[in-house]
Amino acid sequence: MSEQVTKAEKLDASDVLAAKRAEFVLDDVVYLDGNSLGALPVAVPGRVEDVVRRQWGELRIRSWTEGGWWTAPERIGDRIAPLVGAAPGQIVVGDSTSVNVFKALVGAVRLADAGRDEIVVDATTFPTDGYIAESAARMTGCTLRPVTPAEVPGVLGDRTAAVLLNHVDYRTGRLHDLPSLTAAVHAAGALVVWDLCHSAGALPVGLDEHGVDLAVGCTYKYLNGGPGSPAYLYVRAEWQDRFDSPLPGWNSHAEPFGMRPDYAPAAGAVRGRVGTPDILSMLALEAALEVWDGVTVEEVRAKSLALTDFFLECVEEYVPGGRVECVTPRAHGERGSQVALRCPDAGVVMERLIGRGVVGDFRRPDVLRFGFTPLYVGFGDVERVARVLAEVLAE
Ligand SMILES: Cc1ncc(COP(=O)(O)O)c(C=O)c1O
Repeated sequence: MSEQVTKAEKLDASDVLAAKRAEFVLDDVVYLDGNSLGALPVAVPGRVEDVVRRQWGELRIRSWTEGGWWTAPERIGDRIAPLVGAAPGQIVVGDSTSVNVFKALVGAVRLADAGRDEIVVDATTFPTDGYIAESAARMTGCTLRPVTPAEVPGVLGDRTAAVLLNHVDYRTGRLHDLPSLTAAVHAAGALVVWDLCHSAGALPVGLDEHGVDLAVGCTYKYLNGGPGSPAYLYVRAEWQDRFDSPLPGWNSHAEPFGMRPDYAPAAGAVRGRVGTPDILSMLALEAALEVWDGVTVEEVRAKSLALTDFFLECVEEYVPGGRVECVTPRAHGERGSQVALRCPDAGVVMERLIGRGVVGDFRRPDVLRFGFTPLYVGFGDVERVARVLAEVLAE
């Protein structure tokens, strides 16, 4: 038996999260695409069945009140809150990440001091954030400044209204320094919006602790909410009274059933709501979040780093030198929960890996992406992936 197999066995034996794997529907495939679509938690199908058959089928309209449908966006927001370091009452669930980027960014510009007319955006961001930032800039009469995250401190100034940043880069897996970038934005007198899609559920975020103004994130990656599950919006408590949503739908009204012609915003996180919540997806997400019972994000982070360290070690040992180049930073402080390997024939390599029961993904033009979800990926899986990768690369 190879040294790495023995090491994997030891690491699996001392893994405090090992039992969590049984709370997911998995098979013999090593699933390293949880950074795109998280695996299905065992509790979800039964809950969805109950929501559809009993709550909708039998209780019908009564479920809005008796079944807690109406308050689900805030209730589930409070369930996500500890995972991103937020006190209750600041997160509301609903809409897509893209829509929440729009609400947060326009809201941030409206909160900024008059005369500030620039939006700074991470030029390396997931494309939807950039597209929406461009539209938000046009709508608010701002100039858009796309720069790399490293360049952000250098372009901040008294014209900066808001800055939109990604906590973890979707392609390289690089973790950006949220505390120091947030502090730099604040020192310039501007507001910051963080996109947490690739960090929430994988590592500590510390929204309250670091004074983040607004944040958004999806729930279908490390939070395992299912395809198209609703996203969330965090508005820091201090800003909530002045948060002026660009999508003030009736669900965010102070008196939604008053049916008044004039808009009066609700207090608190509710102000981030728009229209009728997508209850089926939302309650599937609520069931999925139960896997977090008894788990701390710190434990998840420790295992995530151990998994990615071990993967890099196995790749170094098994894969012939020069065949792949790791584009994910080695330093723990700069690494999310994925490893991205550059390889000229990445598309074909990923197809072959999938054919052999190793599911990661391919990002154009030449990146193999492997996402490590500590709740259900083990060290034996990691050793197997590196071994199969080396075999495929040798073909
Ligand atoms: C950083 C980031 N932002 C936004 C999105 C997608 O947004 P939406 O949920 O609106 O599809 C993704 C999807 O992978 C993402 O990685």
